[in-house]
Amino acid sequence: MTKVEKERLAKIGKTFNAKKYIKNEIEEIRRQVGDKKVLLAMSGGVDSSVCAVLLQKAIGKQLTCVFVDHGCMRLNEAKEIKKVFKGKFGINLIQIDAEKRFLDKAKGVTDPEQKRKIIGGEFVRVFEEEAKKLGKIEFLGQGTIYPDIIESGVGGHKAVKAHHNVGGLPEDLGFEGLVEPVKYLYKDEVRKVGKALGIPEELVMRQPFPGPGLAVRCLGELTKEKLDILRQADFVFRSEMAKAKLDKKAQQFFAVMTNVKSVGVTKGARTFGYVIAIRAVSTSQFVHAGVVELPFKFVVSVAQKIATKVKGANRVVWDITPKPPATIEWE
Ligand code: XMP
Repeated sequence: MTKVEKERLAKIGKTFNAKKYIKNEIEEIRRQVGDKKVLLAMSGGVDSSVCAVLLQKAIGKQLTCVFVDHGCMRLNEAKEIKKVFKGKFGINLIQIDAEKRFLDKAKGVTDPEQKRKIIGGEFVRVFEEEAKKLGKIEFLGQGTIYPDIIESGVGGHKAVKAHHNVGGLPEDLGFEGLVEPVKYLYKDEVRKVGKALGIPEELVMRQPFPGPGLAVRCLGELTKEKLDILRQADFVFRSEMAKAKLDKKAQQFFAVMTNVKSVGVTKGARTFGYVIAIRAVSTSQFVHAGVVELPFKFVVSVAQKIATKVKGANRVVWDITPKPPATIEWE
């Protein structure tokens, strides 16, 4: 047994019990933090959401959460996060609308790696600026989970997890230490803790969403126009998947803005709009992925809805490529 495996066993025991875990972890956080303060970067993802609520229950107002909206979030995401975490749980949450800043920075950039770097780098700068404004905060909260520490080497431990995998926060932010309340949990256990804490099902069970967000699904230059079209199309597809109860069949399903324009016709008039791709995959570890066999009629009806309801989009294609050779994301 490796050192981390022993640590996990000591913390959780042989069988995992969410209620017991929450009780112990709240005590543990209180012991570690005392009367000091914690800053947590929230992404809206499951891991950081569960951390936020655990920390809130343990230390209340000593916790500040920062959510940076880089303009590549899905439809209504920022609003929903505010409603749940500020509204329902009373978390001291600062939301930063940095859409313009990110899009200005990424203007004219079309190379996928360059786009990722810009978003990651800018994220760190926005977070740093916000942290400075808040004065002295001793601890940085992180949603590191067990696979993250196993992946970093036997017994190893990454000092700072790549924050929701955008770029990664630098180590010199001046914190005295890290608080990682879900460090020894697998993803399904994090979800169980989330449920037991009362976090809504949609958030606890949500599909993985990449740190750079829609930036990796919006090909070519990132513009508000293209991102808005993509957000609408993605919302239609996800809602239809849920309505048809197909959402449990795929680990990830989303729309992609292809950056290609094609000719179409609406009410007898020619249109020239964007082609949207839809993709639904099933995978256990995200290393390989299979295409989910959505009912053909369903796919056609989604295409019809997107091409007629989403202004600026007039054609839909279905991505039926497994991974490998394609990756799950388009960029
Ligand atoms: P790919 O596209 O490499 O994706 O087959 C595998 C899994 O990783 C997610 N992904 C990312 N997650 N930052 C993230 O946080 C990223 O830059 C990123 N790129 C891909 C992807 O959504 C899938 O779950």
